[in-house]
Amino acid sequence: MLITFEGIDGSGKSTQARMLEEHLRSEGRSVRLVREPGGPPLAECIRSLLLSHDVEISPFAELLLFSAARAQLVRETIRPALNAGSVVICDRFYDSTTAYQGAGRGLADPAWLDEFHKHVTDGLTPDRTYLIDVSVAVASGRRSGRDEDEADRMESGGENFFERVRAAYLHLAEREPARVLVLDGTLPVDVLHTMIVEDFVRLPNTK
Ligand code: TYD
Repeated sequence: MLITFEGIDGSGKSTQARMLEEHLRSEGRSVRLVREPGGPPLAECIRSLLLSHDVEISPFAELLLFSAARAQLVRETIRPALNAGSVVICDRFYDSTTAYQGAGRGLADPAWLDEFHKHVTDGLTPDRTYLIDVSVAVASGRRSGRDEDEADRMESGGENFFERVRAAYLHLAEREPARVLVLDGTLPVDVLHTMIVEDFVRLPNTK
């Protein structure tokens, strides 16, 4: 099974991804948690390029770099783990590209992007996507609690950028209600975790 977590920077999705991983592990299940961009050596190299402030990257090159990292992660890590029977939890997947590059950077032809993602992921789609939704104001408030210097190149996009990203995520959820579950990211962490576990056990193919 492939489970993905999505949301704007500061939504709290990474915390929820880790909590689900720990929960499943504590139940004795084989779980693999991965994050995007990253994982295999190639994807980690691409990650440092993408998040660095020192490298000029045009929007279309950015789209291809995120996708190149994903193509490697799918083939080197996700597919083999799924074939071995593990639950794979992915902190971001191709919906991030639709939201950040497609809508945020304004590159979108959504139909083209959908088709492109299929090639990048070798046809792999998540069984469930948890979209942790918070307003841009809440997310930026949480991010400003971190060290200022830590803001990476993507996080320097500005409020309008994140408004477009958030709207694109919500639009995706409307378009694919059977896959994407929207959760209120302002709920307490434990409440959200419980909702996610309750949903997970009801999914088809949850062994
Ligand atoms: P990261 O520090 O991992 O942020 P987060 O914990 O919020 O996931 O940085 C990933 C950044 O890359 C984040 O700002 C979202 C962005 N991103 C894209 O723009 N497109 C993509 O396809 C992916 C996977 C991430």
